[in-house]
Amino acid sequence: MSDPTASLDPCQEKALKALITWWEEAGIELDAPVVRPRPAPARATPPARETGAVREAPQHSPARPAEPVRAATAASARAAGYGQVEHEGPGARDLAAGADTLDALQAAIESFEGCPLKRTARNTVFSRGSREARLMLVGEAPGKDEDEQGQPFVGRSGQLLDRMFAAIGIGPNDLYISNILNWRPPGNRTPTQEEIAMCLPFIERHIALKAPDILIVAGGISAQSLLRTSTGITRLRGQWQDYAVRDTAGEPTDKTIPVLPVFHPSYLLRRPPEKRKAWQDMLALEAHLSSL
Ligand code: URA
Repeated sequence: MSDPTASLDPCQEKALKALITWWEEAGIELDAPVVRPRPAPARATPPARETGAVREAPQHSPARPAEPVRAATAASARAAGYGQVEHEGPGARDLAAGADTLDALQAAIESFEGCPLKRTARNTVFSRGSREARLMLVGEAPGKDEDEQGQPFVGRSGQLLDRMFAAIGIGPNDLYISNILNWRPPGNRTPTQEEIAMCLPFIERHIALKAPDILIVAGGISAQSLLRTSTGITRLRGQWQDYAVRDTAGEPTDKTIPVLPVFHPSYLLRRPPEKRKAWQDMLALEAHLSSL
């Protein structure tokens, strides 16, 4: 194969080399013809609820939610033995409901004292990327780098994520990124069901206010929490579904957004052969975007 970086400026050359590295890591042969999957239907029906989920190795540790997450009430959180939920201020649902803009939501989350994770985190991590982007990705929770920098997906898994999207022509201005949790779980442990349930009103409101054309849920926690399913990411990935936008009471509305579950990039860092499937998902996303 001739040198694909010949006659490029240094910036283009760097971007192309990163893309080629990602392709090579994904096991894609650069000279082989690309077989593109048929475009996914824009509105697939949600899969039947399954128990006995196939569990994917997670970002932090193997535990995954066994039950679909329900947004916590103070009573349910207390019943779950989650004593720290007692705090003076308003709950996440009320704070989220009172926010009519992304800036207001960010301020509301920063003022929330109900989540114990906030006490051990350095920063509240809200979002990164363009608020005008058609695409919104929701990951799991900030890690060490994200906690230090106050932005989601800025560490190793974020770099892989950026390369994956760059490979289908999606740059930093075409993507808006957030997480299920706004605070880093100590030591990057897996978030508990209660922590997820407690913070869910924030990300649901975040999605409603951002109103992307397409939602990507990265990893099992994100997919299971937002889609209210116990099915594992190994089965969910690559299957387009409808995400029902939630109202301020947390109830599903008639408004839906096509959502594509994908493997979490930190899982791909641990299991490089799975990048082949991730590449198929990227191609399905590219096809869907070009059909809009
Ligand atoms: N993993 C996530 O799920 N989110 C981040 O922001 C970083 C790593």
